[in-house]
Amino acid sequence: MAVDKKGKITYVELLKEDLSIFRVVPDDGVIPDYQTGQFLTLGMPIPSEENKIVRRAYSLASHPENKKYYEFVIRWVRKPLPGRVTTALFNAGVGDEVSFIPPTGNALLINDKLPNGEADNRRIVCLGGGTGLAPFVAFAKHLHDVGDKRELVVLHGSSYVDELSYKNFLTDLETESEERGRDRWNFRYAAAISRPQEWFNRSWKGQTGRVETFLRPKSSGMSPLEEMVGEKITPENTIFYVCGWQGTVDGCMDFLKPAGFRIEKDKDENGNFSVKFESYG
Ligand SMILES: Cc1cc2nc3c(=O)[nH]c(=O)nc-3n(C[C@H](O)[C@H](O)[C@H](O)COP(=O)(O)OP(=O)(O)OC[C@H]3O[C@@H](n4cnc5c(N)ncnc54)[C@H](O)[C@@H]3O)c2cc1C
Ligand SMILES: NC(=O)c1ccc[n+]([C@@H]2O[C@H](COP(=O)([O-])OP(=O)(O)OC[C@H]3O[C@@H](n4cnc5c(N)ncnc54)[C@H](OP(=O)(O)O)[C@@H]3O)[C@@H](O)[C@H]2O)c1
Repeated sequence: MAVDKKGKITYVELLKEDLSIFRVVPDDGVIPDYQTGQFLTLGMPIPSEENKIVRRAYSLASHPENKKYYEFVIRWVRKPLPGRVTTALFNAGVGDEVSFIPPTGNALLINDKLPNGEADNRRIVCLGGGTGLAPFVAFAKHLHDVGDKRELVVLHGSSYVDELSYKNFLTDLETESEERGRDRWNFRYAAAISRPQEWFNRSWKGQTGRVETFLRPKSSGMSPLEEMVGEKITPENTIFYVCGWQGTVDGCMDFLKPAGFRIEKDKDENGNFSVKFESYG
């Protein structure tokens, strides 16, 4: 059994009342080698339960090349009852102790090889619902830092414009792509707002609907994603990664399955698949 390690919260960025970016630095200063797309299990003492440690998984928004801290984007779960660990985390601040189990998980590891042994050079399209963006921030940081030449498209869906965490960072990465040339760094970012009718979102001019609407064909026959990348999406030219609510995964598969995309568990007779996902709730 994995033994809990200890660390400290070193940075808290409250994006809104119930959404925050947290950084954690291990007390021993060691961030082990791990793989992009993994999660960390954080443990918090729960005051109402005699400070019993309760653990929950959180996707790493930081990448393995970052040996300074682990980063997360976390929603404070409030309904129907306040979540145990998120309430403890949102009550904590810089300098407070957390325990953790080192990075693990293999659902969202970046596929580098095809079953025939050739490099998987397909376009990578990531769809993140809410905090489900977290692993794809890590994808972007990692693929950028290692100089990967594959095309990477990050699509984020949120209810409100102030929940578009990492919008600045991802927009800057796209600008860099345009400035340096797509042969060097090939990155696109777009967001969808699912409650466009709400007053707070009144200035939103981008995609509306949940993140999976990027996959819905328009009257032209092309989806917004296909218009963005300039070609028809197929399992031969694109692999999808989806993270968020199970409904987000299902919503994406409603479009992808009829187009011949397969999840890893349902690979074809040659071992090919074109969708990886992680969901909860
Ligand atoms: C691989 C993985 C990665 C994840 N990554 C992230 C991430 O990056 N960011 C993120 O924010 N979350 C992430 N999650 C979700 C996270 O692990 C937790 O599930 C979430 O934060 C809620 O934990 P909690 O202890 O606060 O809530 P819990 O206490 O576990 O409560 C969960 C839900 O149950 C309800 N509930 C609790 N008790 C009762 C009751 N008695 N009656 C009725 N309802 C009740 C709560 O209201 C809440 O809706 C991830 C999950 C997985 C599996
Ligand atoms: N690695 C992982 O497994 C991982 C990592 C991070 C987060 N998560 C999980 O991802 C989920 C996202 O939580 P959040 O608070 O960040 O999301 P959220 O802000 O409540 O919602 C984000 C987006 O998803 C839509 N949505 C809400 N419920 C949905 C459903 N049932 N089916 C399809 N779409 C839905 C919302 O649309 P509306 O505006 O219409 O509600 C919104 O556009 C949580 O379950 C979280 O625990 C998992």
